[in-house]
Amino acid sequence: MNFDAYKLIPGDFSPVPSLHAGDPVIDWVDAFAGVEAVAVLVGSDGDVPAELGLDREALARAGFTGAAGGTLLVPTGDGPLLVAVGAGALAELDQHALRDAAANATRATKGKSRFGLRIPDTELDAETLGRVVAEGVLLARYAFTPLKNGGAFTPLELVQVCAEGTDPVQAADGTGIGRINARATNIARDLCNAPPSHLTAVALAEVARELGERFGFEVQEFDREELIAMRCGGLLGVNAGSAQEPRMIKLHYAPPAKATGHLGLVGKGIMYDSGGVSLKPSDPMHLLMKMDMGGAASVLATFTALRDLGAGAEVTGFLMCTDNMPDGSAYKLGDVLTTRSGLTIEVKNTDAEGRLVMCDGLTLALEDEVDVVVDIATLTGAALMALGQLTAALLGNNQALVDAVRTSAASTDEQVWQLPLERKYRKQLDSDIADISNLGGKYAGATTAALFLEAFVGDTPWAHLDIAGTMQSDTDDVWRSKGATGFGTRTLIDLAQNFSRR
Ligand code: BES
Ligand code: ZN
Ligand code: ZN
Repeated sequence: MNFDAYKLIPGDFSPVPSLHAGDPVIDWVDAFAGVEAVAVLVGSDGDVPAELGLDREALARAGFTGAAGGTLLVPTGDGPLLVAVGAGALAELDQHALRDAAANATRATKGKSRFGLRIPDTELDAETLGRVVAEGVLLARYAFTPLKNGGAFTPLELVQVCAEGTDPVQAADGTGIGRINARATNIARDLCNAPPSHLTAVALAEVARELGERFGFEVQEFDREELIAMRCGGLLGVNAGSAQEPRMIKLHYAPPAKATGHLGLVGKGIMYDSGGVSLKPSDPMHLLMKMDMGGAASVLATFTALRDLGAGAEVTGFLMCTDNMPDGSAYKLGDVLTTRSGLTIEVKNTDAEGRLVMCDGLTLALEDEVDVVVDIATLTGAALMALGQLTAALLGNNQALVDAVRTSAASTDEQVWQLPLERKYRKQLDSDIADISNLGGKYAGATTAALFLEAFVGDTPWAHLDIAGTMQSDTDDVWRSKGATGFGTRTLIDLAQNFSRR
């Protein structure tokens, strides 16, 4: 990798360390053996597992009711550490509650590399159970550690799961699926957590090539000269102030049998968003702007799962990658960019750069004759303000596609909420001198950003995920580990797996 010498980036630095860590073993067992800790899920009702050696009254005296989120370290004379982990009302122990409980159990045993997990009887089928347990465990035991000398993080080696009455073969199949989903999510997290000077657009293209070879998809990269020839004026405009070259990275997955349809995915890949000439105020938000490529990260991560999950659709991805920096060469307010579509854009704010790179990606997807296109972008502070850090904004021009994204999101516990694509606001984007401007009014910023994108999708069914709020978590919160969340990855994987042309 060709990094500037002064950054002293070690030659063996990888922006995707999770890929190089060993995969923990997850075994389905009748009894625990050789573990350092045992986490026992306890409902707020129902029997207390005998293993704890305490009844409900004794647990309650110690302040443990079995409510979701609660944990209690149970003193033992010898043997493995014993922890009770609240699972909430057993009748409500659905796949999301179980994923959360598995994540909480993993956090409660965080210093241990080998732990056992006892699961109460549930209504869940064995495969779903296996999948969500694997996801909860593997997503909760995640940290980005390659730049730390030492530290407290203990990687996981072994989890033994004991779930009486659950078919271990089916559960193990589910674990395999959960493992693929979690691996992809953790790849997306790695990419977002990597420092912006360690992961430039050029470096991301290198990572994409490595992932493509390993996980069976095609990768093409387009450099500045090629992007000029392709007239991608949106991406080039944003890149103008950057010392780093831009990259458009095109990904392609072809299923082994006849494709059920062709899904296009476009990801915002702003490797660092300073705001450009419309410089962001120097507040803690700046620190998060290395994650402004979270959309591109989740699209790339999605591709790592397609072959292994046997996705039946053809999928083409476009990662629109560049820094957004102020400089003597930077694009200016008042500039007019000519996009690949031919539409011209008056730049009224250089910090509304996401839509400028995304529009070229959408045009490229349409040229590939995708059946539908879904884009994902850390696009607006307005989405964060409206929906907070747990829920992403979802908009689109086709309700069936929006509903499909919603269904996929619901199956993964990545929360989304549809916002209206209110076309009466479209005139806020009118420009006196170009076809459209990149800045709407003061209100409904997530909607006006989406309306801007809609101008580039024509009649093609299109859905848009604004993940500005959900891209990172301020705390360890069930399966969301502090830092980048990898949000959208599992939703897009599910969408790709279930996609068929209507
Ligand atoms: N990358 C930001 C959006 C963002 C904000 C992501 C907070 C994550 C957390 C985006 O490029 C941006 O700056 N948007 C502006 C648009 C505005 C100038 C129309 C915003 O939301 O303030
Ligand atoms: Zn911006
Ligand atoms: Zn941005």
